[in-house]
Amino acid sequence: MNQLAQGLIIAGGLLATLNQTWAAPAAGKLLTYPERKKARDLYVSQGCIACHQLDKLGGANQLYVGPTMAAVGSHYANDPKGLETILHSLQMGAKGKWGQNEMPPQTHLTGEDARHLARWILTLRPKAEGDDKAAPATPPKTAEPGFYSPLISEKRVSTVVEVGDVPVVYRVYLPGASSRAIAVGLPQKLGGISYAFDAADCRLLYVWSGGFLDMDKAWTGFGGWYAKLLGAKIYQAPACFPLRIGKPNEWPEKPELVFKGYRIVEGQPEFLYQVNAQEVAHRITYQARADNKSASNTGQITHHFSLPGVTDEVSFLPTKQHVHYDTEDATWASGVLLVHADKRVRFSVSITLKP
Ligand code: HEC
Repeated sequence: MNQLAQGLIIAGGLLATLNQTWAAPAAGKLLTYPERKKARDLYVSQGCIACHQLDKLGGANQLYVGPTMAAVGSHYANDPKGLETILHSLQMGAKGKWGQNEMPPQTHLTGEDARHLARWILTLRPKAEGDDKAAPATPPKTAEPGFYSPLISEKRVSTVVEVGDVPVVYRVYLPGASSRAIAVGLPQKLGGISYAFDAADCRLLYVWSGGFLDMDKAWTGFGGWYAKLLGAKIYQAPACFPLRIGKPNEWPEKPELVFKGYRIVEGQPEFLYQVNAQEVAHRITYQARADNKSASNTGQITHHFSLPGVTDEVSFLPTKQHVHYDTEDATWASGVLLVHADKRVRFSVSITLKP
């Protein structure tokens, strides 16, 4: 097997190994490793991953509204107009070719990125039948351990997704989120709430309690692309990315954010991203109030941050609306929480919800 071809990506909590997917590209269409890596990064960063899987590894998953990229690649493999067709679909959207669902026009792509993705998709092939036996039971360790994502289970009752004993992580379209939303449902023992994390903005969007998701609309494609939140929102995060690195006068107007994926730490998802090239690991936990477990709208949300190797000042930007901040790792300074020098590498900020 081609060594360069090994890699892992996260797809909705399912792990897709790319090794076989890369196999046997049509002659003359071989992409170099940096080209493949760039395409794979675009596939994640441009939101394709919200609706597509590269290949159906780890079992079919209805959550993916679009065809697998490997299926598309092999479908157009010998079609001289394949590239053109894919580019047309990306620009204009597509409907009726692969099923009932519709792909909205991917107009946020630059022409160059669309072409790059299309060329790459054409090299992908489904994993051959029977390869399953050869596939390792546990995903192989790769150079990118941060991208490891175990299989996360959930319960389905019709289109309603319920959270069992372990967190459920879905990439879906959520109301009030960019196309790169991730919905996380926590089991009762971890607070039982659900939250939306935006992978484009690398931040918590909101928290809801009562139930997880109804995928009806998202699965059928009728009436929009959004999954329905079950329950009520109990917290809406401020609209800006909360971390700042460096002194306030050095803060860029908009921090440069690169989402890298997530892993599971202490049984909960931990999001990995970069802020101006600084690595950040970010975990969000919830503690219901001990005196009244049922009134989960009065609990405490905690952001746990790790910024390995950071030396510059780190600040957390709060809002003052309806919340109370609690942290032993930072002090208020000119309206922001300035993280203590010895806590920058690992600190947490809690938000107590007022009923
Ligand atoms: C909102 C969900 C959604 C997103 C986001 C999305 N797609 Fe799709 N895509 C679909 C669906 C659904 C189809 C099948 C459409 C059909 O049946 O004609 C599809 C079809 C395709 C096809 C096959 C087109 C054809 O002409 O046969 C390609 C290639 C493709 N998508 C690539 C991408 C890429 C690359 C991205 C990211 C830039 C992306 N998609 C983002 C839902 C999506």
